[in-house]
Amino acid sequence: MDKPGLRSLTDAVEIAPGIRMPRLGLGTFRARVGDEVENEVAWGLELGYRGIDTASMYGNEEGVGRAIAASGIPRHDLFVATKVWNDEQGYDGTMAACERSLDRLGLEYVDLYLIHWPQPRETRETWRAMQKLRSERLVRAIGVCNFLLPHLEELMAFADIPPAVDQVEHHPRLQQPELRDFCASNGVTMQAWAPIMRGAVSQIPEITGIAAVHGKTPAQVTLRWILQHGVTTIPKSVHRERIAENADVYDFDLSDDEMATIDALDRGERLGRDPDKIASGVDRF
Ligand SMILES: NC(=O)c1ccc[n+]([C@@H]2O[C@H](COP(=O)([O-])OP(=O)(O)OC[C@H]3O[C@@H](n4cnc5c(N)ncnc54)[C@H](OP(=O)(O)O)[C@@H]3O)[C@@H](O)[C@H]2O)c1
Repeated sequence: MDKPGLRSLTDAVEIAPGIRMPRLGLGTFRARVGDEVENEVAWGLELGYRGIDTASMYGNEEGVGRAIAASGIPRHDLFVATKVWNDEQGYDGTMAACERSLDRLGLEYVDLYLIHWPQPRETRETWRAMQKLRSERLVRAIGVCNFLLPHLEELMAFADIPPAVDQVEHHPRLQQPELRDFCASNGVTMQAWAPIMRGAVSQIPEITGIAAVHGKTPAQVTLRWILQHGVTTIPKSVHRERIAENADVYDFDLSDDEMATIDALDRGERLGRDPDKIASGVDRF
């Protein structure tokens, strides 16, 4: 019943030569530093997650690092991603930001370093630093977040190393099929943030209907839909039972009809910021 490559939490995709990223990892946005994020990551690792997504902006890298250290899991079995924040961009800024993140995480390298939001005036110099960080082996792969098609095309026109990942808002109400197709045909692994719409997928009747048929939850059906599209994802919860629920997506398969039903729910509706407005400076954090 399982699709090839969709059998367990250790299923991974090659995002760059020799670098494999778990298709389903654990997000940590809004998990507070201290017990909250440490418990989250500890439970996630106990339950079999091996990918962890954090960011300098989340203010919780220290807690993520402590939980990783306490887990005793060999470093090479883990996949840790973090991000350079908007006001850290530029060549020197990015080099220094990465050093601070590694310090807070207590790690010698991260597996994936991401530009958090497009800042077009800085992208060229930021990317030069990202490439340098990779050549110094402080990061194993480099990528971006919230890059729309024009941002990606612009970056790919001058990048010596293309972005391995584009982490974007992606869920049943915001599918961005053109971006998904572009990523799929250009070797960029798309990764969905807010995959379960921060819980709101349980308000969508088509999804609750499919969930009832399979004896699964709306979050599980949505995560399975994302994975069956070949997209990777990082759902977040600070509750052990939900962390387990979000990982329990390997014992069922959505039919083509069910996939099409969820595909038809796209409304182009964002829960988060519009990358174009952040990029142009019209909107700021
Ligand atoms: N690159 C970017 O700009 C960007 C932006 C946003 C997020 N991200 C990354 O993507 C990750 C995921 O996105 P997200 O955290 O915004 O949204 P999400 O994973 O769709 O949803 C997380 C929210 O849903 C709740 N939840 C989790 N599992 C649930 C379940 N099974 N049933 C019902 N509710 C559930 C969580 O509450 P509890 O924690 O209370 O359980 C939390 O409030 C983030 O944590 C972060 O690592 C990246």
